[in-house]
Amino acid sequence: MMRPIPTNKEIKLNPKRYILSTTDLKGVITNVNDYFVEVCQYSAEELIGAPHNIVRHPDMPKAIFYLMWEHIQNGKNITAVVKNLAKNGDHYWVVTDFEIRRDLDGKINRYMAFRQAAPRKIINTIEPLYQKLLHIEQMDGMRASVDYLLNYVAEQGLDYNGYIAKLEKRSALTTFMLNKVKKLFS
Ligand SMILES: Cc1cc2nc3c(=O)[nH]c(=O)nc-3n(C[C@H](O)[C@H](O)[C@H](O)COP(=O)(O)O)c2cc1C
Repeated sequence: MMRPIPTNKEIKLNPKRYILSTTDLKGVITNVNDYFVEVCQYSAEELIGAPHNIVRHPDMPKAIFYLMWEHIQNGKNITAVVKNLAKNGDHYWVVTDFEIRRDLDGKINRYMAFRQAAPRKIINTIEPLYQKLLHIEQMDGMRASVDYLLNYVAEQGLDYNGYIAKLEKRSALTTFMLNKVKKLFS
């Protein structure tokens, strides 16, 4: 598939709507909601069965996805700020909860992503950090950028999830609404 060329144009998201997807254990998309389809501009048919990197933006550091996969493959949920690429090359920033789901035997059988518009303040903090990580990756490889990121959060006395939580300060209402969405979408 041809990768869209980034336009540097940002898609304005509705902060009250959720962009949802489910994948198998390899990251192949198995389900999406209507808002995902609307925002990314691929049809549900194009999305389902495709690897989730279909919406990967070249500005995203590999380190973020490395940490994300390391968490979920070890049964740990993680929240990350992600810049995604739409089919026409426009982009959108989301705060994403990546979560594991288990079957009745307790085995992880799928992953889910719950996304909401990233507030401007968060984008303003994260964008230069990601540029730095991307630069480190180009110069010294991904391990160096993962180390930089982990060191950066550790200097603030935090782990990665703690850093994001501090950045986001999610309100009780947001958590309440998101938990509802998490129960309904599967
Ligand atoms: C549930 C789930 C949702 C994901 N959502 C996104 C996403 O919105 N954007 C994205 O770039 N990658 C997403 N990924 C990660 C991709 O699978 C992939 O690791 C990432 O795009 C990096 O691409 P690469 O492995 O080709 O470098 C998701 C993975 C999972 C398991």
